[in-house]
Amino acid sequence: MIKVDNPTDIKGSIRQGWEEVAVEYTKDRLGIFERCAGRLLELVHPSSGSSIFDVGCGSGAVSLQTTRWTGSEGLVIGSDIAVTMLNMARSKAEDLNTDLEFCQMDAEQLGLPNASFDNVTCAFSLFQFTDMEQALIEMWRVLKSGGRLGLSNWGTGYFSPIASIQRDLFRMFNLKPLLNNPLSFKPNELNDLLTRTGFSEVELIEETDEVWFNTPEEIWAFNMDMGPFPIMLRQQLSSDEQSRLFHQFKATMENLRTEQGIKSTFHLIYALAGKGDID
Ligand SMILES: C[S@@+](CC[C@H](N)C(=O)[O-])C[C@H]1O[C@@H](n2cnc3c(N)ncnc32)[C@H](O)[C@@H]1O
Repeated sequence: MIKVDNPTDIKGSIRQGWEEVAVEYTKDRLGIFERCAGRLLELVHPSSGSSIFDVGCGSGAVSLQTTRWTGSEGLVIGSDIAVTMLNMARSKAEDLNTDLEFCQMDAEQLGLPNASFDNVTCAFSLFQFTDMEQALIEMWRVLKSGGRLGLSNWGTGYFSPIASIQRDLFRMFNLKPLLNNPLSFKPNELNDLLTRTGFSEVELIEETDEVWFNTPEEIWAFNMDMGPFPIMLRQQLSSDEQSRLFHQFKATMENLRTEQGIKSTFHLIYALAGKGDID
């Protein structure tokens, strides 16, 4: 695990969090990220031989599936702020014998020339960026004229009913979110954000899916795999408080348990947007 130089600012803390959880996150316990990556690419529909830049690629959920669309002639680059995530992506690409490039970049400052890619993808990462507008401006900049952006995000009520119950519990412990953005988007918010940052022909696709957790501990483990979560706990609660929170969390989630387990419906909002022919 990599130690980040300045883990006290928000961006440094977020990065530190993802550096720490990279191995666990990559297991994708619920298979959500793999499944949603496939769906995002189906919607973006990259053409054979095209170029794709995957921003906040993590351990490569989207990047690693792109070659199904681009074929061997395509160019795929994944970028992320967390080096350990990129190493996971590289090792998966090697296992799959796929020739992809992964490089460390802050989404808000992409070290790439203007108009370089046919498609830009960004899956479940936009809300992690401290300045979402700046990151979208950068995505717009590196897209070619006529290129397409594809985003996947959590929609409102995103892990229902678990998310709102745990939010109330976290409030009781005075926990403040580490991220400076909400975790989920309403369609009009996403539409406004994309239009403000230069995109056109915005198309929003809302979908729902469900997952079953066997135990409250599994839900907790899922939370702990999301980089900023363990950092938030560590920065704001003593170890006694953390263990009280965990026990209360278990008791609360136990109330939702049926014979089949604990059901959670998750809401997704995919966005497709274009860069008009203006270069
Ligand atoms: C929830 S993961 C999503 C990873 C991947 N796209 C997926 O679908 O599994 C969020 C990712 O955003 C990355 N991230 C956070 N802040 C970033 C920034 N400023 N620039 C680039 N990547 C960032 C994290 O390191 C993490 O890998």
